[in-house]
Order: sequence, then structure tokens, then C-alpha cells
Amino acid sequence: MKKTLSLKRIILFASLLVSVTTLKAQFHIIPQPVSLKAGKGSFILAKNAVIGVNKETEPIGKYLQDYLNQNYGFQTTVKVFEKIPANTAIRLNNAWSNAEGAYTMHVSAASVSISGSGAGVFYGVQTLIQLLPTDKSPTLKVIACSIADQPRFGWRGLSLDVSRHFFTVDEVKKYIDVMAHYKLNTFHWHLTDDEGWRIQIDKYPRLTEVGSKISYYAKRGEFRKLDNLIDDGRDGFYTKDEIRDVIKYAQDRFVTILPEIEMPGHSEAAIFAYPQLGCQDSTGAKHRVRMLDPSEYTFKFMEDVLTEVIALFPNQYIHIGGDEAEMVDWLKSPTAVALMKREHLKSEKEVQSYFIKRIEKFLLSKNKRLVGWDEILQGGLAESATVMSWQGEAGGIAAAKMHHHVVMTPLPYMYFDAPQANEDLEPIGWNPPVTWQMVYNYEPQSKELTNAEAEYILGAQGNIWNEKVPNAQHLQYMVYPRALAVAELTWSPKNEKDLERFGWKMKNQYGLFKLWNFNARLPDIDGVDDVITNKSRFKLTLNYPLQGAKVRYALNGKMPDNNSPSAPFPVNINVPLNDSIGLRTFTTWTLNDQHIRQTASIKRVSIKPAHEKAAMLKPGMAYEVFKTGERDIAKLQDEKPAETGETNLIVPVKPVSEGLINWVKIKGFIKIDKEADYELTTGFEVSPALFLDEVEVIKSGLNTYVEPQKALLHLKKGVYAFSGHYIADKANENQTLIELKIAGGEKLYPKFYLMH
Ligand code: ACM
Repeated sequence: MKKTLSLKRIILFASLLVSVTTLKAQFHIIPQPVSLKAGKGSFILAKNAVIGVNKETEPIGKYLQDYLNQNYGFQTTVKVFEKIPANTAIRLNNAWSNAEGAYTMHVSAASVSISGSGAGVFYGVQTLIQLLPTDKSPTLKVIACSIADQPRFGWRGLSLDVSRHFFTVDEVKKYIDVMAHYKLNTFHWHLTDDEGWRIQIDKYPRLTEVGSKISYYAKRGEFRKLDNLIDDGRDGFYTKDEIRDVIKYAQDRFVTILPEIEMPGHSEAAIFAYPQLGCQDSTGAKHRVRMLDPSEYTFKFMEDVLTEVIALFPNQYIHIGGDEAEMVDWLKSPTAVALMKREHLKSEKEVQSYFIKRIEKFLLSKNKRLVGWDEILQGGLAESATVMSWQGEAGGIAAAKMHHHVVMTPLPYMYFDAPQANEDLEPIGWNPPVTWQMVYNYEPQSKELTNAEAEYILGAQGNIWNEKVPNAQHLQYMVYPRALAVAELTWSPKNEKDLERFGWKMKNQYGLFKLWNFNARLPDIDGVDDVITNKSRFKLTLNYPLQGAKVRYALNGKMPDNNSPSAPFPVNINVPLNDSIGLRTFTTWTLNDQHIRQTASIKRVSIKPAHEKAAMLKPGMAYEVFKTGERDIAKLQDEKPAETGETNLIVPVKPVSEGLINWVKIKGFIKIDKEADYELTTGFEVSPALFLDEVEVIKSGLNTYVEPQKALLHLKKGVYAFSGHYIADKANENQTLIELKIAGGEKLYPKFYLMH
């Protein structure tokens, strides 16, 4: 008998559906505001609207005026008032607030009112910009709402390496401009490295005359081959006037610039320009081209450089690098050896600590604070240093426990030089893939910190290194949309985190990206997943969130390209499935001829129900935990588990000592009450292995965000035996092990279908 819903429930369900979809259709603000309430009606922003400002908010009014002019051709007027009249279309009120960056925004049918102090009004304007339509219509409609908002962290950063690839002032400005749209506020400018010195220093002109032309010297055979760079490098540097111009541009957008001058490693360009900076050995031969010699000449040189850097940059912080220094080479340097003797330094690490502490002292004397990569912990951390934790979180955690300020920018989550999807299908990058989902799920305040220690975490930052980035378009491709995840995780309250909502909002940013001619990586087609199925047809509708996007696809053929015939979305695939099918897709959109490639394999299997009767089973699944150094699960056959139990969800993570892991084996039955098509997936980043009726339906070891897997199964009423295994660790403790839903329908609750 077909079940019918009561009329009341249908109405309730329908109204819920309407309110969720309308809310969704209107508010795709990134980062998610602290409080957001929909109002009634909408405000029409006219071509000649008046923007009322106070003296303090006038520059922000002009910024908005410029934005509306550049992007929509509007001719608005900015009027300055002591007290802005209530009938002014857009009001930017300077208001006192004790939270840096806080603002309120009220949009009614009559007007838009934004209030805040300092950066607050600017952030309110960014929220308004995100609510504007992205097509160039003669009037702009803004949905009525009330927002109260403020950032979670004070440090919301993005870095840019201009050494490995030089970016022009305009390219840097565009990078800062888009950061600011998402309320990111710290631009870490990596100005010097082995492959190029990019900042004018008057006292040492060869730093730019020679040090900024490394690819020129490399091509002449006078510098080593730059074969670590995808394009053999691009020469260039910023004059002081250009740097002042960029600083002003950033200030107008409430972005602080953190300049980085690398020492004592990563200094090859500087040493090439001034060989006396480099280490020499006892024969006088230069034996290390990347390491600064810890000589008085070097200290004086670097202090002179920093003096000029400090005179330019108003930021209280100066980054001095400190990463990946080849310290053992100091042991061959007569200067370093003499220094060790004089200062009673017992190791090369203590030489580095001495080096950093001397620079710290110098910076403190100029009222500046030192930031360094986490290697500066080695040999003793300088007293006032702020640590940027990049080699994972350990350095940051250790520093916070020592009551040092920390910026979390750990591998892999915050490294945007990694590919964003399957590395075989993406442009070349470093490291295994890092998806936006991995970035989004990152939490800067580690559970290993007490609440008091967690206060030392200033925020988080995404990093990009540009060895494999040949131009600004590609830079934008690598950094976005992942930077949007950094924006939300550093701004929005932790309890507002919602991966699904964020994914939806992210897709709604592409109208803006198009308006700004900004080349963010295109979204993937949803549903191009590796599928295990027991059905005799493969059906899939390829849908895409971006209007005007096209797909080329092949079944069991080679990857399509720009020359293959294309179809507009949606595309229906409906073909017989005997054994397996390889699906390849090539998606293009109207922006920059960018394309995205995806692949999936679809395999047919046979799954039979078990003989057990549901009535004989109890709820939950059985598990066994093995604490072991063995990474090969097959070798645990004869081991006794350290623990056994039953659970509805996943097994709580139990700490293991260094070098050991928690293998978890699971076993049970899935109880099916109604014959239907079901979808079985996992919410794990690193997949568990899952077998149904001894058929592998989810493969272990993959990154499920990169290569999503699902089983699409027609199941009859009855029970189906399952088993599986996974490694329990911090990465999966908040994720869902098994997700079962009716195909295309609602999720089922594990407590109703897991039995053992
Ligand atoms: C770094 O990635 N070497 C800071």
C-alpha cells in the first residue's frame, strides 16, 4: 500500500522547502555573517543613488562609488554629512564598536544603512557588494535583510610568492582587491627568495640590478639552471614608489601587508648580487650559495635592508623567513665556527637561534615585531616572535603552549600550490591534492590547546608558492576558490560552519568572478563519481551551476578536448551497463576558456542479501580496535584486538603512542525495510574500505573529495552483510563513516539500519 502524507505535513514540508530555497537563492554571502535575518521586499539601487557618508567613512563611500561605476557604469554621488539624513539611499555611518571589523547592515525597501567603526563599514560594503546582481542591469535589486557581523580572527591571510614568478603591480593589486572582497585582511608579500629579489633597497642597488634579473643570468649560464620553475622565471622588482602605491591601495581596502625578507636560508639571489653575504669554507671557496654567512657584514647588511623595509611598511610585523635553512653548512664556515666558540653555541640550530634573536632585537629597537616560519623554534625561540606554522600544526601548537602568537598555515590544508583535484587531470602542482573541502574543514584552534592557549592563535592563512605558476590567470586559478574557504573559516563563528551551504554559496560567486574577470578554478560537475552498482543501466544527468557552461564527454573513450562536440548542460546519460564504463568529462565556461576535466569509472557488481533475519539482530555495528605499527591491514589477521564494542556511528578516536595507529575493523548488517534504489557513500576524507556481501563498494586510501565514490544499489527488503576497516585519527573523528540514503532522497539514520 502506498503511504500518503497528511495534508498538514505536506503544507509544513512545502513551506519549509520554500523558505529554505528562497533563503538559499538570496544569501550566498562569503564569509557567512554572524547573524542574518531576511526582511520584506527589496531595495532598488538607482543609477544615480546618493551615498551618504560621515567624514570618517568618506573614503569607503568613494570606494563603493568607484565599484558601482567600474562594474555597472553607475554614476552615484557621495555626500558628506555630520548626521546622514534617514532618507539617503545608502548610508555609511561611522559608529563606535569595541570589536575590530564589526558592522551592522539593514536593507529595507527604502534604503541601505551600514554602521561600524574602522574596517567595519568597509566589510558592510563588501556584504552589500555580494548581494548585488552580477549582470549589468539598469537598476540593482538588493534583497531586504538585517545583518550583524564581526570576525572570529584578526589574522585572515593570503600569501603571494613574487620571487619564483614576478607579478606586476596591477596583478598584485587585483590579488589584494579580491582578497578584500572576502574580508581577508593580511597580505603576506614574499619579496625575496633564491630565484629573485623583488624590492628596491637604495643602499644595496645590486639587489635589484642583479638579484631581480636571475632568469636573465640563468639564461646566460651565469646562474644555475632554473629548472624548478615552470617558465624559467620572470624578472622584475618593485620600486619604492610602486610599493607605496600598493600599500595605499591595500590600506584603502583595510588590508595590511606583511613583507617577508628571507634569512638566513633562501638567500641565493641576494648572495649572487653580494657574494660576501654567502658562506665560505676554510679554503675561501663558496660552498653554499643559499645560506647567509653569520658574519658582522651580513648582520649589518640585513639591518640596513630592514631599516629601509621598515620605513616603507606601516605593519607592526615584519616576516624574516627562517625556513629550510641548510644550517649544517655553517659547520664548515670559519665565521660560523668562530661565532659558535665566542657565543658558546653548541649546534648549528643554536647559530640559527642566535641569528634570529639578533634580528629580533633589531626589529624591537624599531618598534616592529618579528614573524618567522616554524623552524625558528629550533635552538630556542626568540622571546617576542610570532610563529607561522607551516610544517603541519606541531610548531604552532608548541609555540602557543609557550604563549607565543601563532598564525596557522599548515601543510596540507593551507598550501594552494597543491592541485585542487585529481592530480592527473590538473595543471602541475606540488604535493598531493588539497580540495576546498579540506581547506574548509580546517580548524585553526587545535583541540590540543587549552582555551587560554588557543587565544594565542591569531588566525590562519593560505599560502601559494609560484614555481609552477606561469601567469596571473593561473595564480587566480590556484588560489580561488580555496581562498574563500580561508575567508569563511577565519571570519565566521565556528558553529556557523556548514560545508554543504558553503559549497552552494561558493558556486554563486562565479557571477562576481565573471564581473571582475577573475579566473577562479571552475567548479566540478556534481555526481561524476566512481560508482559501484548492481543495476543494468547507467543513468546520470550532468548538471552544472554556471549558466552557459558546456560539457564534452566520452564513455569508454579518450578525454575530450576543445575540439570535441559539446553539449549545453544538463546532459542525460542513459546507457546499458554490462561490465564497466569509463566516463570522462571536459567542462568549459565563458570565462577565459578555462576547462575542468573529470573522470569516473562505473562498475557493475552483484549483491545478494544475507540469510539472517532482522528480528534476530540487535541495533548498531560491531567493531574491533587494533593499536599497532602495522599499516597493512591484511597482516592483522591473527592479532587480538585491543578493544571491541558496538556503535551506531564511528569509533571514538583513542590516543595511541608515537608511531602507532588505530586500525578499526567494523562488521554488521544493513537492514533494508523497503525495496528501492539506495546510495551508499562515506563522509570520510580518507576513505574506509567497505564491503557489502563481500563486494568492495568503497575503496580505502583515496581522498573521497578528490575521487568521490558511491555505491548505487537496488536493494530488496532484508539484511545485507557488510564489513570494512579504517584508520581512526583526528582527521575523521567528526566525519560520517557510512551514509545511506534512498537514491535522490533523504538520508537515513544509522540507528535504524545498522544491525549486528
Ligand atoms: C615554506 O613553505 N617553506 C614556508
